[in-house]
Amino acid sequence: MTLPEKKRVLFLDDEEQILDSLRVALRRERKRWSMRFFSNGADALASLAEEPADIIVTDMRMPQMNGAEFLEKVTEKLPNSVRIVLSGEAAEELAVSAIPFAHQWISKPTEAAELVRILGRALATSELTHSSRARQIVTSVAKLPVLPQVYRELTAALAADEVCLDLVCGLVQKQPSVSARVLQMSNSAFFGLPRAMGNIREAVGYLGLETIKNLVFAAEVICELGPEDGSFPMSDFLMQATATSKLAAELLASDSEASETAASAGLLHDIGRLVLLQSGEHVSEYLRDCKGKPEDAWIEAEERLFGATHAEVGGALLGVWGLPHNLVEAVAYHHNLDALECPSMEPAVAVHVARAIVSHELDRSREDFDESSAPRISPGALALIDAPTIEHLATLARESFAADAEDEDACASSSRAK
Ligand SMILES: [Fe+2]
Repeated sequence: MTLPEKKRVLFLDDEEQILDSLRVALRRERKRWSMRFFSNGADALASLAEEPADIIVTDMRMPQMNGAEFLEKVTEKLPNSVRIVLSGEAAEELAVSAIPFAHQWISKPTEAAELVRILGRALATSELTHSSRARQIVTSVAKLPVLPQVYRELTAALAADEVCLDLVCGLVQKQPSVSARVLQMSNSAFFGLPRAMGNIREAVGYLGLETIKNLVFAAEVICELGPEDGSFPMSDFLMQATATSKLAAELLASDSEASETAASAGLLHDIGRLVLLQSGEHVSEYLRDCKGKPEDAWIEAEERLFGATHAEVGGALLGVWGLPHNLVEAVAYHHNLDALECPSMEPAVAVHVARAIVSHELDRSREDFDESSAPRISPGALALIDAPTIEHLATLARESFAADAEDEDACASSSRAK
């Protein structure tokens, strides 16, 4: 039997005392991690040139080469490495300059067990996005999109000191198919708009720029990857994505940043399905085996036919685009949350719970639905959420689906009347 290869972890901190305490705290991990410790950036870079590392953890404020400069160099040489800042400094200039090169930020002091948990999770996500079967599928899809163009332009426009609304609307409208999808999703009852939005400017006015940015991202990916031959129910897909996004964001409403991530991940959580549909081989078998079955049944078919689930493939795609780890995780583990070990409510938990509730509410319309069944929420997530919250979200989902169905009926009868 061959032992799994040890993961290579490199720590950089100018304070020897901190390095010593890390050595002691992480001793028990020596069997699975090969760890190196350095007190200056130049030595760490020289070591990385000889032997790369899978994960790099650095302090921020250091003499000579600071953490931001170090991570910039590391990113250039080892773009696939996981880069984490472990720092006692609160928000300051250096922190801001490191953001493009760091995947995560951990504040000092952090308990050893917590540090091990964070590094373990980061390594698992990195493996998924860089060396798994899911990654192979993503990179072999001929239609592999680069990080969507309109989304990139929109992100740049929103980062300006003064955001120009005309520019934002112009960017979204530049691609009519994307703009149509954004409007379709905005008009779902889940967004609770007072009336149907007919154009992007109105939708921006009611929903705000961040929400529109998330919708544009999802719409652009969906337009790029969605099959155009009617073989896949795209409307259902969009409805489920929108509902999951809203419920997940609601679960994290008290933390605006986490809520935004959960909203994005909710919109994109099943994007791996669209990638699988582009993978050529086994697609007709996949569609046939999954038709009319609940979502959980799709997982078995995906593992059998493709060797990876749509959740893993979706996570790998977002990882290839270099999107934040917590977004990648929320997508990659939405069916398998307990593999992540989540001690508190976070985007991955929120998306898992929201998806389970949405899928349960949609299953109600199936003939073989068992009224006594509950949403399939993992034990780990159930420990973080109470029954009244689940019931509240289920009611919200039920009412919004019913309102959307009524709108659709009204549309159908008015077009018949014309
Ligand atoms: Fe899914």
